[in-house]
Amino acid sequence: MERLQKVIANAGIASRRKAEELIKEGRVTVNGATVTELGTKVTNKDIIKVDGKQIEKEKKVYYLLNKPRGIITSVTDDKERKTVVDLIPCHERIYPVGRLDYDTTGVLLLTNDGEFANILMHPNDKVEKVYIVKVKGIIKGDAINTIKNGVTVDGISYERAKVKLRKTDYKTNTSMLTVTIHEGRNHEVKKMFESVGFPVLKLRREREFIFDLKGLKSGEYRKLTPKEVAIVYSLEKGKKNE
Ligand code: URA
Repeated sequence: MERLQKVIANAGIASRRKAEELIKEGRVTVNGATVTELGTKVTNKDIIKVDGKQIEKEKKVYYLLNKPRGIITSVTDDKERKTVVDLIPCHERIYPVGRLDYDTTGVLLLTNDGEFANILMHPNDKVEKVYIVKVKGIIKGDAINTIKNGVTVDGISYERAKVKLRKTDYKTNTSMLTVTIHEGRNHEVKKMFESVGFPVLKLRREREFIFDLKGLKSGEYRKLTPKEVAIVYSLEKGKKNE
């Protein structure tokens, strides 16, 4: 479901503001009925007309990027730095699904399909986010168990996490772990480890749901297959049937 004014704007007919005016002026119909309320939600199947002419909806596109370090996860930047959107040359108005920090690398999905993005951003036990984490220090079982049970930092409770120690290196005084979570709170993994005294030095998202980095070097991207998109949509159907 997407807001009517956004769908009209994305069809390239008008700016978002102009689209809102068109709606308020009663010039827009959805499935034959005039709609004057801003924020009305529509789906891909709805037929939208402006002044009696059906709009061509923007084609939905889906990308998987191996995000490099040093790029911000947003559509635009007020400091005019490069953003993840600049790494994918396409005509559609894509945006990232969730966010990765400036210095975090790995799996990042981008799309212009709000429904698809919402399904993945809504916490769901089936949507695992798997991170490879390098921390400063030699981490021990008690700190790992604390994170496994869920930590609270500055009044924010972070979910329980699956944590697996991969290796410790006494020479460099670092530890590597695999962490699996389901939410996407700001700086979630960093906050979890900082709270037990192990600052994160490097963070890479290895997988989100079924999407991993196979075949993608840093900065490379690929389109999702129709089957992959359908699998994401099937998550929503699964929820409705519960
Ligand atoms: N957790 C973080 O701390 N940073 C990220 O970029 C992703 C998850």
